[in-house]
Amino acid sequence: MKSALAVAAPTRNIHLIKWVEKTAELTRPDAIHWVDGSQEEYEELLRQMVASGTLTKLNQKTWPGCYLARSDADDVARVEDRTFICSLSKDSAGPTNNWENPYTMRRKLKEKFAGCMRGRTMYVLAFGMGPIGSRMSQIGVELTDSPYVVANMRIMTRIGLEVFKEIDKDEKRVVPCIHSVGMPLAPGQKEVPWPCNKEKYIVHFPESREIWSYGSGYGGNALLGKKCFALRIASNIARDEGWMAEHMLIVGVESPEGEKTYVAAAFPSACGKTNFAMMVPPKGFEGWKVWTVGDDIAWIKPDAEGRLHAINPEAGFFGVAPGTSTATNPNAMATLSRNTIFTNVAQTPDGGVWWEGMTEKPPAECIDWKGQRWTPEIGKTGRKAAHPNARFTAPASQCPTIDAAWEDPNGVPISAIIFGGRRATNIPLIYQAFNWSAGVYMGATMGSEMTAAAAGEVGKVRRDPMAMLPFCGYHMGDYFRHWIKMQRSLSQTPRVFHVNWFRKDKDGNFIWPGYRENMRVLKWIVDRVRGRAQGKETPIGWTPHYEDINWKGLNFPKERFEQLQAVDRVAWRSEVIGHEELFILLHAHLPSELIYERELLICRL
Ligand code: OXD
Ligand code: MN
Repeated sequence: MKSALAVAAPTRNIHLIKWVEKTAELTRPDAIHWVDGSQEEYEELLRQMVASGTLTKLNQKTWPGCYLARSDADDVARVEDRTFICSLSKDSAGPTNNWENPYTMRRKLKEKFAGCMRGRTMYVLAFGMGPIGSRMSQIGVELTDSPYVVANMRIMTRIGLEVFKEIDKDEKRVVPCIHSVGMPLAPGQKEVPWPCNKEKYIVHFPESREIWSYGSGYGGNALLGKKCFALRIASNIARDEGWMAEHMLIVGVESPEGEKTYVAAAFPSACGKTNFAMMVPPKGFEGWKVWTVGDDIAWIKPDAEGRLHAINPEAGFFGVAPGTSTATNPNAMATLSRNTIFTNVAQTPDGGVWWEGMTEKPPAECIDWKGQRWTPEIGKTGRKAAHPNARFTAPASQCPTIDAAWEDPNGVPISAIIFGGRRATNIPLIYQAFNWSAGVYMGATMGSEMTAAAAGEVGKVRRDPMAMLPFCGYHMGDYFRHWIKMQRSLSQTPRVFHVNWFRKDKDGNFIWPGYRENMRVLKWIVDRVRGRAQGKETPIGWTPHYEDINWKGLNFPKERFEQLQAVDRVAWRSEVIGHEELFILLHAHLPSELIYERELLICRL
């Protein structure tokens, strides 16, 4: 006989139903809700969260469909020190991941999850990563006791009945994800606006492709489709299946003649990926357009002809709000103007939102992310109105520059890969790797000065290979080997570039204006890919001559450009020593190609 749960379930997949039953036995929720993904269900969840104090409904005239959440002050970002890769052997997780024996960790998690959903509803959230039905897509099911997670995942992924249908089609593989805020409610116990637990576990089992997350309701800790699935677990699947799961934005650059070139770019967290993904070309680029495919993650696969194609596995943007304005990113501002969930931004007296950098002049007063009164006077003391890692969760389809092919099941062809970081010194604005393996070396050795999105000392350079350091679900040395190996399945490798918008002069001022002016660099990249642009050979790669860049509309003197592009051999020697530190750490798994590349670089220097 079918259980009551099986009768209610919108799926016939018996493994899935059994797993839901088993998890409910462990976590003891008051109710189980199979998420259908409908608008009515979404609105009901929002209504409940307004009632419980999790959400504030914003002024619906000026911010239609928008809501604001304020998190617990201790639950504001990803927790890398509480993130674990529990592979069978410690060696496969590598020295850059936290590892715990999977049996020990399972025991610990079983204890933590026992009864953890008491007094709450467990949502069964089926979600698709990538266009439904695409050969490049994957499916997950997240069991969560957080309606906030369900609402955000509805924006960030494709959810509900259409995904259950897909699961039933041919018993597709599903990545099981279990999430709890870790705060059961005893009978009569009062709910808090942002339930969470001081103790947090973000755990991945790469061999069984499972995710368990406990104690946090915030961002990548809780929206398990994003970093946990689309990067940490997917990087394992991709290595096994011969494709790539990367921390990259994807854009299509269209020339005035209508020629379209797609590029993917990896920048570490909080280096302006969303701005780059939605770039507005500057003066002097009339007729050029930059189209957005994705702003954070790319799944890249060779097609039958051996050309790399990429999809954006996500359906929304979980962007950093501070610094976003109509000047820096008008397309993001248009995207988040409706149907958006804001988290940890400030609320204005007229029921709107504000964050540092949104307008030149701050509002006369507002309610800060902690729910307290804030004025510009208070701001002068250094207290921020919005948390530096405050976010907007907005549907990608609302982006004015969303690419016509952003949901193409075959993905878009990738002609160039760009690496970048936030570096005040040494690294030129733009240079191109000599070939694929030099490009892999370039990505493997990239670094960035740390910001609020990651744990660590703000300002210090952290080596962040391919911007994947916190997101690669296995040994980083093996990951480099996978990159090297990919070349063999390709008839044509993308060209590889490195950019740095953040170089400073002796007085500490940024040399490059950045933002839309980055289009000038992007055009040189496209021209190189198309075989149209000249380059100059330097010890670290090909760089443009001043004349190779389109300067129309910008007065940027040649000397200033030379300053930006300078390759200081002495400084670069210490740069290589920095590379060496990472290589020593990964030594046992480092592919020999990278050692040779380093030797070649030293020779050229
Ligand atoms: C992000 C990150 O949130 O990289 O995208 O931290
Ligand atoms: Mn990211």
